[in-house]
Amino acid sequence: MAIIIDGKALAAKCKEEIRQQVASLKRRPGLAVILVGNNPASRVYVTSKEKDCAECGIYSEEYALPAEFGQEALLELIDTLNHNAEIDGILVQLPLPKGYDYDEQEVLLSIDPRKDVDAFHPYNVGRIMIGDYTFLPCTPAGVMEMLDAYGIDPAGKKCVVVGRSNIVGKPQAMLLLHRHGTVTICHSRTPELAAVTREADILVSAVGKTGLITADMVKEGAAVIDVAMNRDENGKLCGDVDFQAVKEKAGWITPVPGGCGPMTRVMLLRNTLSAALANGKG
Ligand code: GUN
Repeated sequence: MAIIIDGKALAAKCKEEIRQQVASLKRRPGLAVILVGNNPASRVYVTSKEKDCAECGIYSEEYALPAEFGQEALLELIDTLNHNAEIDGILVQLPLPKGYDYDEQEVLLSIDPRKDVDAFHPYNVGRIMIGDYTFLPCTPAGVMEMLDAYGIDPAGKKCVVVGRSNIVGKPQAMLLLHRHGTVTICHSRTPELAAVTREADILVSAVGKTGLITADMVKEGAAVIDVAMNRDENGKLCGDVDFQAVKEKAGWITPVPGGCGPMTRVMLLRNTLSAALANGKG
């Protein structure tokens, strides 16, 4: 029976540390959150990010914009925020509405890299590649925190990341590599996925496909990290991993909910604090 990695408890501990650090600053950190359109899931994420900020003493301001706001106006808003000294972090909630003239890459490029608390700007992505960074993308950073908290050292281990997104899979692989893991990235065109995942000492799944990782795909005693947030056929939140079966075989496992989700949220607060410190608010 695996040790269940308690992301919720760890996130609460990290959050309290951040709250104390924020309280000791000369000036409060500020985060601008931009939400374009009315995607209900995005609305929930943005509300929880603002609540987290308030609980840690971080000032936040929300820009809830109609879907037809438009690319040019959005770029102008970001430019204003780039020059606003009260704002240390700028977050544009993704995805941007479909069917309008939004160019997501252009939007991400327009954010001052020093305020890019999502670490999505190519400048910050490049810094992650070379292992010299101010910000880490929140989900992979949260995964590394969980591994560290449970004494799971990637050094010398076989690490398999399933999923190759710019936000999770690719940076996750890089962070495990920096910590001396031997890393394989798998994706939808990987033949014999199970043969690869069975080799993993640390298995991270970030695909978004319920039931993808079954017990026969997991090595006995492995650390299994489930990044996905899916809904099962009853509408219940679940990940990629068959939790009930895999927990009998793995050494450690993250639940969904209560694993990666809370850690992702808290890493945004940490990035905002880092931005404020870099901005001279310490
Ligand atoms: N949409 C889903 N996850 C994220 C995230 O971490 N950051 C932003 N900006 N948008 C998202």
